[in-house]
Amino acid sequence: MTNAVILISGSGSNLQAFIDQIHTGELELDITQVISNNPSAFGLERASKARIKSSVIDHREFNSRQEFDQALIDQIDLTEPDLVILAGFMRILTEEFVNHFSKRLINIHPSLLPKYPGTNTHQRAIDANDEWHGASIHFVVPEVDAGPVILQGRLKVALGDTPDSLQQKIHKIEHQLYPLAVKWFSQGRLSFKGNKVLLDDETSLDQLQSFDL
Ligand code: GRF
Repeated sequence: MTNAVILISGSGSNLQAFIDQIHTGELELDITQVISNNPSAFGLERASKARIKSSVIDHREFNSRQEFDQALIDQIDLTEPDLVILAGFMRILTEEFVNHFSKRLINIHPSLLPKYPGTNTHQRAIDANDEWHGASIHFVVPEVDAGPVILQGRLKVALGDTPDSLQQKIHKIEHQLYPLAVKWFSQGRLSFKGNKVLLDDETSLDQLQSFDL
């Protein structure tokens, strides 16, 4: 079975989606540990409730990004994961970290990448009068919020949508698509062709799914 480490900073609703799908048998995944950089992340309680080992590595206790990332690498390597899942982990990672976990490090970002890397994505989509907004699951490369996309989910921005309403809707998409992308990874169905991700070696993977929420 694929064993994974999940990194969080906050609520951990995506972590919960993995836990729930493991419990229903929809997803076969061994979450060996959860790590948070934030001691008060609610996701730590979710991990403890699900009896998953967790630890806190507080970035504020380190003098440099390099030292923090090295401590993170050391903790992650203890369980030799096949996959490292960033689930709302709000730290920019060094090139050393990303390269250490190359091709086994994935992230979810609340925008239709390459649109809106960084923060405030919902407000930016509203300000730009975008017809569509959504979330992207991608392999991580040193450049922030870039890297080969595995799956994207989108919805139409409705009149009157606010950053909060969009965030809620996009969470629903994320909770369906992130476990699905991890399932494909754990089944060995994903491969790379240049900067593209293939499913079952097919170039025709429908990587953009539309939702009506
Ligand atoms: C998600 O919206 C994800 O796209 C972004 O951070 C949020 C994390 O939410 N990277 P949660 O902690 O999983 O509830």
